[in-house]
Amino acid sequence: MSLTPKERLIVALDYPSAEQALKFVEQMGDSVIFYKVGLELFSAAGPDIVTRLKSLGKAVFLDMKFHDIPNTVAGAAARAVAMGADIFNVHALGGMAMMRAAAAAASEAASRLGVKRPTVLAVTVLTSMDREALEREAGIHVGEGIGTFVAAKARQAKEAGLDGVVASPHEVSDVRSVCGNDFEIITPGVRPAWASSDDQKRVATPFEALKMGADRIVIGRPITRAKNPHEAVERILAEIG
Ligand code: C5P
Repeated sequence: MSLTPKERLIVALDYPSAEQALKFVEQMGDSVIFYKVGLELFSAAGPDIVTRLKSLGKAVFLDMKFHDIPNTVAGAAARAVAMGADIFNVHALGGMAMMRAAAAAASEAASRLGVKRPTVLAVTVLTSMDREALEREAGIHVGEGIGTFVAAKARQAKEAGLDGVVASPHEVSDVRSVCGNDFEIITPGVRPAWASSDDQKRVATPFEALKMGADRIVIGRPITRAKNPHEAVERILAEIG
């Protein structure tokens, strides 16, 4: 996918209030054009935060990881389109019927509202779940290894009509080889060499993540908690430019 460095960088707005998030967005000005709204900020600020970001000319990845019965997820997908999300996601473990319902509802809502259908992604396996947790706690048979399992889930997402997946840097190449180039891969767990890894365990630098085949990267704390967030963004954009 041919994208500019600014289009490849999604900054995670993990803030507990709209005020704090919007203050940061204002401070960043034009240097960031794509933001991720996750469960914390959405729980605090509701759909209004998405509308506000859109009115500021920003692109929005609504990271709600929908996982429910197909009818409910279809309703939520239609709301995500109405809010103006450019990307939203669902859990692949919600099943094929649920993923199909999300894709169909997104298409239907987009054509009804006369807008572009958002990119609909699947979360394959949470990176906080290792093989032991998946098999012993969730009763999920992983088989050969997490990479193969993730790639199989990504293939199901593609078959269900989704546009791509969220995948850790280490799963990108497995997904790419199974799903091909016409499938968007967004990668969190990205840390510039100069930043702390925080609680992220299997990290890659922005350059490495894109080299492994990711289309876009999600970065939060190395930017939002940097002493100089502008400088952090400039360094990252230079690295991936
Ligand atoms: O601050 P940091 O760069 O670690 O933020 C990463 C963002 O990506 C967070 O919003 C986190 O919820 C999200 N994320 C993740 N790992 C996943 C999926 C999403 O870190 N597997």
